Amino acid sequence: MTDATLNTAGKAVELPTLEGSIGPSVLDIRKMYAATGQFTYDPGFTSTASCESGLTYIDGDEGVLLHRGYPIGQLAEHSSFMEVCYLLLNGELPSQSELGQFSRIISRHTMLHEQLATFYRGFRRDAHPMAIMCGVVGALSAFYHDSTDINDPQQRKIASHRLIAKMPTIAAMAYKYSVGQPFLYPDNSLSYTGNFLRMTFGVPAEPYVVVPEVERALDRIFILHADHEQNASTSTVRLAGSSGANPFACIAAGIACLWGPAHGGANEAALNMLREIGTPDRIPHYIARAKDKNDPFRLMGFGHRVYKNYDPRATVMQKTVREVFAALKVNDPLFETALQLEEIALSDPYFAEKKLFPNVDFYSGIILSAIGFPTTMFTVLFALARTVGWVAQWNEMISDPNQKIGRPRQLYTGPVQRDYVPLSAR
Ligand code: SDX
Repeated sequence: MTDATLNTAGKAVELPTLEGSIGPSVLDIRKMYAATGQFTYDPGFTSTASCESGLTYIDGDEGVLLHRGYPIGQLAEHSSFMEVCYLLLNGELPSQSELGQFSRIISRHTMLHEQLATFYRGFRRDAHPMAIMCGVVGALSAFYHDSTDINDPQQRKIASHRLIAKMPTIAAMAYKYSVGQPFLYPDNSLSYTGNFLRMTFGVPAEPYVVVPEVERALDRIFILHADHEQNASTSTVRLAGSSGANPFACIAAGIACLWGPAHGGANEAALNMLREIGTPDRIPHYIARAKDKNDPFRLMGFGHRVYKNYDPRATVMQKTVREVFAALKVNDPLFETALQLEEIALSDPYFAEKKLFPNVDFYSGIILSAIGFPTTMFTVLFALARTVGWVAQWNEMISDPNQKIGRPRQLYTGPVQRDYVPLSAR
């Protein structure tokens, strides 16, 4: 690929082309401002690569998602969430003994500092669990002083393990607090996902039996959410981390960003939307609303900045709905509504022309609801699973020799300089 020459403002600047291992090349504009005195303008970063990364690759036109080169469908089918965590953090799939050792390390960090339990009691019982997550994760740096030095690789590693390990405990406690049941300590004889199910749905008065099909389905949902390139929350974590902030604060920032309904909050919004639609006969009304520019209503769980094809995670998700229904011997009529909504939308020219397809959030709520999670917990589960991606991206950023504090510029459209007018003269 030849470099480009940009002629602008009476000056010419050579813009080198950088090639990745796969995917579109990028124009390196780092010298552009110094050479021309002009910035680029790209709200929403639709044409801007903010960093170099070797973690996750997406081909949005083809509907391809690779983690460290491995297709998401293969990982979802054959691996476990712990394997994917290892892969994202270390770059390669683990051997049997590496996986055993990694799982043991993670399970050794599942407990929370006992004093953190008092934190929860400061929240209202009806607090949204995402509000609790933001607060408690942000507070972790006040409890784990020995893993906040970002310049020490060993401390970074311990912080990463702590975050991955403690997130299920924090999430389950947020749920327990909302339903007024006692917190359960982790049981490290269980798998990562089995332990989370027990801490969420178990009670101290009875033994809890993990249903293997549910454990497998939830583990797969975690795999599907593990990482996704430079999405809004990951970019938030990187931006927060670029100032040298500690990892717990950075992940709390990511959780806050994920909460929005245009991002991770869409799984909650999608199920609420399906409940509002109710029966398939009401679908045309909602399709018409989604197409109406004057109506803020949008099909939640539909559309994606990068995918202009079916989100490969939605394919796995749809299959998992059937498996969970069969294992739990349940059937949710909303699944039929969702299937028909997808079919009607995909055959509508509006959605076809704009290349709007179901995304990861469209079917996940139906599964999570069947397992027993209230809608308010859906985004919490997304945050739990995405923590490994955030942490891996944060580590990658800190190790990047090109890393600088994130500092975008702007197109200023405010008043030009003017003199202060005394209050008495206004
Ligand atoms: C996630 O980025 C990631 O990787 C995120 C994620 C991850 O794993 O991290 O994949 C997780 O966040 C999934 C997305 C969850 N959000 C939703 O499902 C909310 C509904 N979707 C949209 O709001 C929207 O599609 C976004 C936010 C996902 C993408 O927004 P873009 O890329 O800024 O696109 P856009 O909003 O400018 O839409 C382009 C056009 C617009 O119409 P025009 O102005 O061109 O006429 O498509 C229309 C939009 O109005 N459109 C929709 C629509 N989504 C886009 N119309 C109806 N229903 C929709 N859902």
